[in-house]
Amino acid sequence: MITFPEDVTSLIQALNARGHEAYAVGGCVRDSLLGIEPNDWDLTTGASPKEIAECFQSERISDIGFVHGTITVYKNGIPYEITAYRKDGEYTDHRRPDRVEFVKELSLDLARRDFTINAMACHPETGIVDLFSGLDDLKNGVIRTVGDPEKRFREDSLRILRAIRFASAYGFVLEENTRKSAIRLADSVNIVSPERILIEIKRMLTGKGIESVLTQYSEIIFSVFPELSPMRDFPQNTPHHAYDVWTHTAKAVSGAPNDEISRLTMLFHDSGKPHMHTVDAMGVSHFRGHPAVSVQIAEKALARLKCDKNTLNRVLKLVSEHEIRIPAERKSVRREMARLGKDVFSSLLPLLRADFSGQNPAMHPQKYAYADQLEAQYHQAISEGAVTDIHDLDINGNDLKAAGLRGSEIGLVLHALFALVLSEEIENRKSALMSRVEEIRKNISQPGH
Ligand code: CTP
Repeated sequence: MITFPEDVTSLIQALNARGHEAYAVGGCVRDSLLGIEPNDWDLTTGASPKEIAECFQSERISDIGFVHGTITVYKNGIPYEITAYRKDGEYTDHRRPDRVEFVKELSLDLARRDFTINAMACHPETGIVDLFSGLDDLKNGVIRTVGDPEKRFREDSLRILRAIRFASAYGFVLEENTRKSAIRLADSVNIVSPERILIEIKRMLTGKGIESVLTQYSEIIFSVFPELSPMRDFPQNTPHHAYDVWTHTAKAVSGAPNDEISRLTMLFHDSGKPHMHTVDAMGVSHFRGHPAVSVQIAEKALARLKCDKNTLNRVLKLVSEHEIRIPAERKSVRREMARLGKDVFSSLLPLLRADFSGQNPAMHPQKYAYADQLEAQYHQAISEGAVTDIHDLDINGNDLKAAGLRGSEIGLVLHALFALVLSEEIENRKSALMSRVEEIRKNISQPGH
C-alpha cells in the first residue's frame, strides 16, 4: 500500500466530501510502488474543471491548464495538479490530442495513459485501481502500452522515448509488441521538439539500465542521433578492446558517474572512431585523432537538440580530453592538472575508469592500476596544495609592480615563475620567487628573446 502525503489525502478528501471521485494517478503511484519517492503527486477526479476550482476556491490555485482540465492547487507552497477525468480526441500532429473530452469514468481516463505502469490510480482508503495489469508489469519489470502499441505510439511519438527512458530508469524491458512497434516507428521521434527529446535522452542516460537500453534499442537512439550509428558493429581489432565501438560505448556510459555531463560525454567520446580507423601492418586497428572528430559529432548533435551552452562546452571539453595518456607520475600529473585545470582533470578521472570498464576485461587489472596511480597522484597534489594555476603562486602582478617591473614584463615573468614552480625547480614561497625575478627579467629583455 502507498503512503500518501497528508496534503494529498486532504485534497482527495475535499473532493470526495463534495461527492467527486478522486485518486492519485500515474507517476506517483508507479514510483511509490517501486519504493521511489515521487517527484510530484498528480490527482485525477470525476469533478469537472469548474467543480475542481469551486472545491478549492479558498486555496491558492492556478487555472492555467483549465482547457486541458487541470487546476493546480497549492498546499504549503507545493503545487498539485488536479485533472478532470479525460478522454483524448484524435491526435493529428502525433504529439497532442486535437481536443479533450471530460468524462465521468475513471476507466476512460486510465485507458488514455501511455503505459500500464503509468495507468494505475490509488485512493488512500480504497487502494489501487489497476485495470491494465500495471502491478504485474511493475513486478516483472515490463514496459507495455495500454492497448495497441502501434496506435499509442502513432498518437504521441514522445511515448517511444518515454518507453526507453522508463526501461533505463528502472532497469525494465519493453514487452515484445511494444518493442517492435517502438522500433518500427523510431523515426517519428523527431516530430517531438528538440528540447523535449534532450530531456528524455538525459533522463535515459542516467538510468541504471542504460547499458542494455543502448544495445537493445539502438535503432531508437540512432533515429535521434544518426551520427552514432556507424559505431554499431564497428570492430576494434586491438588488444585493448574486446567489443565493437557501440558495445564499448554502452558499457562506458553505464560505468560513468551518474550525471548528465559524464554520461553525455561517454555517449559521444568514441563517435569519431569509425571515421579515423586505420589498420597497421600487423592488422591492428588504430583510431588516432578520433577525439577531435568525436567533438565535432557531439557539437553538431547536441546543438541540434538545443543543448544549453554550459553543458555543451563542458561535454566537448571532456570528449576532447578523454584519452589521458600521461605517465602516472608526480610531475606529469601536476603538469596535466595545470594544463587542464584541476576541475577538468578531476572530472576526467572517473571517465577514464568508465572507458576502461568497456575495454578488454583481460586488461582491466593493469588499466585500473594506472587509474589508481593517477588518482593517488592527483589527491597528493591536492593535499599538498600543489600549484596548478598561475593564481596559486605566492606572488602576483602587484608584487612585481612594486619590484619595479612594468607592462608585459609582469605577465612574462609570472609565467616563467609558474613554469619553474610546476617543474619543481623553485619553491612556491614569496622570497624564493622574488629572488629569481631579476634574473628572469634580464633574460626576457635580451634582444631576440
Ligand atoms: N502520460 C501519457 N502520455 C505521455 C505523457 C504522460 O499517457 N506522453 C500520462 C501517464 O499516465 C503519466 C502521467 O500522464 O504517468 C503523468 O505524466 P508525467 O508527469 O509527464 O510523467 P510521469 O509518468 O509522472 O513520470 P515522470 O515524472 O517520471 O516523468
